[in-house]
Amino acid sequence: MTDHDDPLLLDHEVDGIRELDNKLPRWWVWLFYGSIIFSAFYLGYYHVLGKGDLMLAEYEKEMLVGNRIKDASMAKFESGIDSLQPATDEFVVNRGQQLYAQLCAPCHRADAGGLVGPNLTDDYWIHGAQFADNLRTIWNGVPAKGMVSWKGVLKPDEIQAVASYIYTLRGSNPANPKPPENQGTAQPAENLYE
Ligand code: HEC
Repeated sequence: MTDHDDPLLLDHEVDGIRELDNKLPRWWVWLFYGSIIFSAFYLGYYHVLGKGDLMLAEYEKEMLVGNRIKDASMAKFESGIDSLQPATDEFVVNRGQQLYAQLCAPCHRADAGGLVGPNLTDDYWIHGAQFADNLRTIWNGVPAKGMVSWKGVLKPDEIQAVASYIYTLRGSNPANPKPPENQGTAQPAENLYE
């Protein structure tokens, strides 16, 4: 059979490349019709009747739900702060150590001996020696004195982790600590947390 007898072969050729007129596979054709029908329904439902949420509305709804969950977990943390205990779980304390090195060390020094912020290893506490006092200071900050409020920056369980980590540093006696005298209203708070 010569080329000209082949019913599939189209009648043109470019640089030796020739085209066949194959029939489209049926499944493909039905998919194609299906997508046209689908687009009509889609257009009607979302754009003409306005029944479904478009992307932006869907995003806003999800954000609203997310914010509600976040607010609830923040409120739960705030109301339960006094009953929280320092975590001893290694995983939590290690997470706290990472956060400390990244976020707190620049002001409190890597060994927590104090720099811009006070020594966190001694028995002198400006805002209370209890674990919950630490949590509250980290949560609310002391903006007037340069201590950052980590509320909304760190999650409640991250605040708990970093506070648990600094709790493990108590009594660690780092070299050349910042003296308690520099801490204004600092009061000795020995035995308060023992
Ligand atoms: C920009 C500097 C800065 C950073 C960053 C910072 N702090 Fe502080 N922090 C301070 C200062 C300054 C004070 C003292 C506030 C005062 O004098 O009332 C303080 C106080 C504290 C206190 C209370 C100490 C006391 O004697 O009662 C704790 C606890 C504390 N910081 C923990 C943290 C933790 C945990 C982080 C990291 C998540 C952190 N800080 C990050 C500057 C900082």
